[in-house]
Amino acid sequence: MEGKIAPSLMCVDLLNVERDIKLLEEAKVDYLHIDVMDNHFVPNVTLSFDFIKSIKKVTDIPVDIHLMIDNPEESFHYLEDLTAEDFVCIHYESTTHTHRALGMIKNMGVKVGLALNPGTPIGVIEDLLPDLDMVLVMTVNPGFAGQKLIPSMLDKIGRLRVLLDEKGYDHISIEVDGNVSFEHAKLMHEKGADIFVGGSSSVFSKEASVVENCKKFRKIIS
Ligand code: DX5
Ligand code: ZN
Repeated sequence: MEGKIAPSLMCVDLLNVERDIKLLEEAKVDYLHIDVMDNHFVPNVTLSFDFIKSIKKVTDIPVDIHLMIDNPEESFHYLEDLTAEDFVCIHYESTTHTHRALGMIKNMGVKVGLALNPGTPIGVIEDLLPDLDMVLVMTVNPGFAGQKLIPSMLDKIGRLRVLLDEKGYDHISIEVDGNVSFEHAKLMHEKGADIFVGGSSSVFSKEASVVENCKKFRKIIS
């Protein structure tokens, strides 16, 4: 499957966000991955709902909102500007009523994602398959950029792809997030991932420009 690039805006220069968005437009990336944290579900705080509103005003690139917050359904009203091409993704453990929360996302008219922490088994998605457009496999523990890949997550991606395909859900995307370096992206693509969150180890690697990095990334996941 043709892979899609979703640069993580947590890694842009926050004093030059609009400049960096223009570079990502030039690089023709597919999504803008935006991490929202609450210092509770994960021990960190990054980008905010106001930031998302500002981003929507300056670009047409679809956004991929990754909510690392407890009880996310209490915050969905902040996302009313989103449209059909955008993703909203919640974590399996972040609410008692996962099914209801996913239904609420669908009713917002956006694409629906469910994120699995490294320790969360893939089987939890089985009864939620009709409600999903994407499963996000965290390949590091969520919360921080610059961590090392948990190697067993490669096998998890492969097992998830098999599960989705066998159950007749081959249209559900697998997104990977965490140390998706060029080298790891190739392996993840082979295992069946198709949306790649690019952070400090790829799109924003200091070894080349953002545009060059995206070109290199595109070749690897095509
Ligand atoms: C958290 C973030 C990070 C990060 C990925 O959900 O999305 O995982 O920016 O970039 P790396 O791991 O390459 O720094
Ligand atoms: Zn993320």
